[in-house]
Amino acid sequence: MANSEIIVLEDAAALSYKAAEIFVRCISETLSRKPQFSIALSGGSTPKTLFSLLAEDRSFKNNIPWEKLHFFWGDERHVPPEDAQSNFRMAHEILLSKINVRTENIHRMGTEQPDAGKVAEAYEQEIQKFFHITQGQVPVIDFNLLGIGTDGHTASLFPGTEALNEKRRLVAANWVEKLQSHRLTMTAPLLNNAATVVFLVSGQGKADILHQILEGAYQPDLLPAQLIRPTGGRLIWLVDQAAASRLTV
Ligand code: 6PG
Repeated sequence: MANSEIIVLEDAAALSYKAAEIFVRCISETLSRKPQFSIALSGGSTPKTLFSLLAEDRSFKNNIPWEKLHFFWGDERHVPPEDAQSNFRMAHEILLSKINVRTENIHRMGTEQPDAGKVAEAYEQEIQKFFHITQGQVPVIDFNLLGIGTDGHTASLFPGTEALNEKRRLVAANWVEKLQSHRLTMTAPLLNNAATVVFLVSGQGKADILHQILEGAYQPDLLPAQLIRPTGGRLIWLVDQAAASRLTV
């Protein structure tokens, strides 16, 4: 794809370091043009090393105007924010509680609300309010961090689920049969409208699925990560050598 690249790094530490460098550069480029920077965080385990690097390493932490950043989530589990499964909780513990971010700039999903559909609607309205847009418009998130599951899912766009085909809404409550639960997820139209999309993929366990996603047939219903094809922005796959071990490029 035009405007996309795959960068292979030695290991998970090098992967996170490269991601932090790209993040800092993207922030300074964007803030040279506008007053605020928006980021959508991913969940799961892979971003934890990056988050702690940004929170602990002064060469990154001190070079980011955290007060100008607005944090969103690309997806979330339908659990309260204090739950161990919460992506918000993970990011808060490792990063947000350790940086000078304004509370009002943390746009978490209201997942304590029992009705997942209402959580998705409310988050869509929060996004519309922040980006000053109306129904049918899709905003540009400056930086979108994503991962992939061993089943080919990204954000909470899981194989064979309804949200894969969403063309209108920005956020969906996606029922995931194998999890027997709803997940809240940004939809492909919103994810693909980002200025910069960065996938973080680490470990031997992801080698097969990454090979299928990047070098296999285009079948997004089975490999939802293939849906991520930014419309105007750039796509960067940051992959460590173990995860890249089956790639032929
Ligand atoms: C989530 C994530 C999800 C994640 C992948 C990879 O809520 O779980 O946002 O899309 O990126 O499942 O997870 P790991 O990094 O733990 O392998």
